[in-house]
Amino acid sequence: MSIPVRKYDAVIVGAGGAGLRAAIQLSEAGLKTAVLSKVFPTRSHTVAAQGGVSASLGNSEQDHWHWHMYDTVKGSDWLGDQDAIEFMCRKAPEVVVELEHFGMPFDRTDEGKIYQRPFGGHMSNFGEKPVRRACAAADRTGHAMLHALYQRNVRAQTQFFVEWMALDLIRDEEGQVLGVIALEMETGEVVAFHAKATIFATGGAGRIFYSSTNAFINTGDGLGMAARAGIQLEDMEFWQFHPTGVAGAGVLITEGVRGEGGILRNSAGERFMERYAPNAKDLASRDVVSRAMVTEINEGRGCGPNKDFVTLDITHLPPETIMKRLPGIREISIQFAGIDPIKAPIPVVPTCHYQMGGIPTNYKGQVINDTGATVTGFYAAGECACASVHGANRLGTNSLLDLLVFGKSSGDTVIEDMASMPKAHKELPANFADKTLARLARLENQTNGSSVNDTRLAMQRTMQNHCGVFRFKDKLEEGVQKILEIEKQVAITEIKDKSKVWNTARVEALELDNLIEVAKATMICANARKESRGAHVRDDAPDTPEMPNGRNDKEWHKHTLWQRDGNKLSYKPVNMTPLSVETIALKTRSY
Ligand code: FUM
Repeated sequence: MSIPVRKYDAVIVGAGGAGLRAAIQLSEAGLKTAVLSKVFPTRSHTVAAQGGVSASLGNSEQDHWHWHMYDTVKGSDWLGDQDAIEFMCRKAPEVVVELEHFGMPFDRTDEGKIYQRPFGGHMSNFGEKPVRRACAAADRTGHAMLHALYQRNVRAQTQFFVEWMALDLIRDEEGQVLGVIALEMETGEVVAFHAKATIFATGGAGRIFYSSTNAFINTGDGLGMAARAGIQLEDMEFWQFHPTGVAGAGVLITEGVRGEGGILRNSAGERFMERYAPNAKDLASRDVVSRAMVTEINEGRGCGPNKDFVTLDITHLPPETIMKRLPGIREISIQFAGIDPIKAPIPVVPTCHYQMGGIPTNYKGQVINDTGATVTGFYAAGECACASVHGANRLGTNSLLDLLVFGKSSGDTVIEDMASMPKAHKELPANFADKTLARLARLENQTNGSSVNDTRLAMQRTMQNHCGVFRFKDKLEEGVQKILEIEKQVAITEIKDKSKVWNTARVEALELDNLIEVAKATMICANARKESRGAHVRDDAPDTPEMPNGRNDKEWHKHTLWQRDGNKLSYKPVNMTPLSVETIALKTRSY
């Protein structure tokens, strides 16, 4: 069966920060560019980023990109690729100033410069003391950024396809990517977007977990599509749990709160981070803070009737600072925790926030295949990609930086690559839509199948219980078996509501197809990595004098690659060769 085909120079899937930044490069270069998004662009999940975007501008105190690079390598627990990290940290001032010129309403210092606040793990002079590196628009930085980027795209005449869900990559026999097949959510029409270049900027997949700061749209669509098209996924065992989600609600309370002087306390009122990170304290990196919080709770020093959260205290800050720098946080605390943080501390728990792994790319945004070669016509940027700049643990504010730098560089690379491509589009393979149409038909025809909601919930609970902040050998092994069982349920999900108005039920079932790929990859990779590193900490790889923090560089200083076919795992070395400076050599991480 044939479907309508629309031709573009480039198609971008996802209209968050990375997609919008890439689109600016392409549209301003005169390329016919389509951007597909499940939601209106300014509702993409970048909107939820709060505290800032990192850049060593040095507006309030001395800073340097090399210090930023060092912090990012250390934050990654030495799993980040040093070429990509150098590229990102060096480019940071340029992309932030560019954003300012696009009209981004940053807060200002008294001299009118971009306001910067401290954030976890960002230090001066190679780890000495916290530095002001997070460029902020109050506590709504992502919101302000999305609007600035969207408006610039309107000016550049980017073509948006809003409420369209990409379903599958189109890849020919030579492995070249030729666009995507997509569903218009309102009408159910299925269309091929035939393009010389396809950029995935589909964001994260935090909805594989039960408790998440992620939006409902964060269902790993790019990862699912890539995996089904035979692309490996990298380092999927590494998930970030943000220390401060509102207890019971999961809504994000920015680390910027601690940057402004907020303090984490246990039931005794103790500033417990002094024991875990004597130098950086509350501004240690997120994996370290989240583990400290869970340890406090597990050892009986949690707060509340069930002793199951700790508190984030800003009652000592002047109310004017809270109103000026953290207005959104005050609103969230009142609405979701029922407390005014000017008067009482906020109940918080670590909550799933970010995936460090993803579609393997180089720092130019080109997707890398299993032989280490680039996949012609295929690029990825932002949270769905693994460049890899975050390694085993991301520093706060490096996500907004990642999407600006790699959104822009993937756009630049497409322009460069296109110069040597034939003018005409390569022909689409025969029957390119068959598998996608069969998947849709299966959903229509399934009877007596499993419910999408129940299956998703089973997956989310399994991920939460078996693959959380602390990981346990037995639980991981059991988790793999459970997820493989749940995968069988996903294969027979039934759409209960078959009405074709907005296709909501259909979209949720299609999203579950993507979520399960991410969940499988995560559990299998986590079970296989027999060391502790960054956000991946296992009971059978404890902290010992021979192996500080349980990290085993001899056997495990390498990236994991998961292949969907047969759940095969392979490994590749970490790039320890920066572009211009000396290697930041392996050492034990402490804050
Ligand atoms: O805490 C925050 O504002 C989140 C920032 C980030 O994830 O980079």
